Amino acid sequence: MEERHHFGSRLGVILASAGSAVGLGNVWRFPMEAGRHGGAAFILVYLVFVLILALPVMCSEFVVGRAGKANAADSFRRLLPGSRWSLAGYMGVLAGFLIFSFYVVVAAWTLFYTVECLHGALLADRDFCAYFSGFSSSAWHPLLYVILFMAANTAIVASGVHRGIERFSKWMMPLLFLIIVVLAGFAMTLPGASRGLHFLLTPDFSRLTFDVILSAMGQAFFSLSVGIGCLATYASYFKQDVPLMRSSFIICLLDTLVAVFSGLVIFPVVFTVGGQADAGPGLVFITLPRVFNAVFGASPVVNYLFSSLFYLLLLVAALTSAISQHEMVTALVHEKTRLSRPQAAIVVALCAMVCATACSLSFGPWRSITVLGMGFFDLFDFVTAKFMMPVGGLCFCLFVGWALPRSLVARELCGECPSRRAVLAMSCILALMRYVAPLCLVGVFFYELWSR
Ligand code: ALA
Repeated sequence: MEERHHFGSRLGVILASAGSAVGLGNVWRFPMEAGRHGGAAFILVYLVFVLILALPVMCSEFVVGRAGKANAADSFRRLLPGSRWSLAGYMGVLAGFLIFSFYVVVAAWTLFYTVECLHGALLADRDFCAYFSGFSSSAWHPLLYVILFMAANTAIVASGVHRGIERFSKWMMPLLFLIIVVLAGFAMTLPGASRGLHFLLTPDFSRLTFDVILSAMGQAFFSLSVGIGCLATYASYFKQDVPLMRSSFIICLLDTLVAVFSGLVIFPVVFTVGGQADAGPGLVFITLPRVFNAVFGASPVVNYLFSSLFYLLLLVAALTSAISQHEMVTALVHEKTRLSRPQAAIVVALCAMVCATACSLSFGPWRSITVLGMGFFDLFDFVTAKFMMPVGGLCFCLFVGWALPRSLVARELCGECPSRRAVLAMSCILALMRYVAPLCLVGVFFYELWSR
């Protein structure tokens, strides 16, 4: 049997896993959701869900992956042979594949905006709504960018865990942190900074409806890439000395910091020109280019640098997350068939291209084709974020919290000779995994069923 690849260092583990988590969800989706749902109140609820749901699900994925040492489905099977738990792994891989298929479409828009920005095409004020919808609804233009993005993604995944994913993350994640800190620092000097900060830091609890709470939960799952087995697949490449609880905590922290910093970049800029914080999905692709021109129009160099860096940030974030989605499906195909890793990566990319094409066309020529009243893009997003990720998260928690032997879980979470602090932390995580997270997730399902 082929020896399993490993990440080379703990830093590599943190940066690759944080790369999986930090993505469009932080820079595009988080400010959009926070903007729609009233800012600080949404952020507070989001933080609670990160702690009580995403953190225990992440720890349970890490336990399954490292102890199982296989792709997401086979790890379940190896840990409890003969049980049906591997179905949860297969569902996770399917969810990862569907997410990958629509994710690359938004990533392709990002690539297009980065290229356009570097060419200076976004520097003139124009009708950005028509500009964006003209591009995204065209049949072939976005697909060209999907192919380019997919090719880069495939090359990284095909190069392997250590030489491809880890090396790429070690360069790109520090770059991403640097760009976001520079942009936030600059945004703080703008006249709208105090309104932006006020929006992000002053909660208005009257905006908190149950739907807002649900959105915050969906955002926590999506942003941290939990519940689908992406992180379980990465954990199958962790060495035994990687501390799982501490790593999970650091990854949650980094992901949350990037999300909050994205808000610190976007809202001061938006409020400087009296723009709308609740502009929805068009915030990054329609509102921001308009706002960048309004704020920095007098100094084209600043405008060029700020907007190019912003779209580059979005692109890097998209790429580090997309490779983890690609990797989890590739690992399954590679380990289940006779295909080599590069061949498996190419097969997955070609299959994902088919679904991505359907998602991309659902903004244009296939707009009228709907399932359950939704186009393909919205359907994939809805099914994965509202159903598959939470169910997947529930399965991971129940499996690790109740089905696996306690001694195995304790060894994975705390090591062979745990300190008292580690045992205490494990007890808290186990309580969240066994009771709090499952009750929250089941409660949400019943509410959704009852409210329909
Ligand atoms: N976790 C990834 C993101 O935030 C999917 O974009």
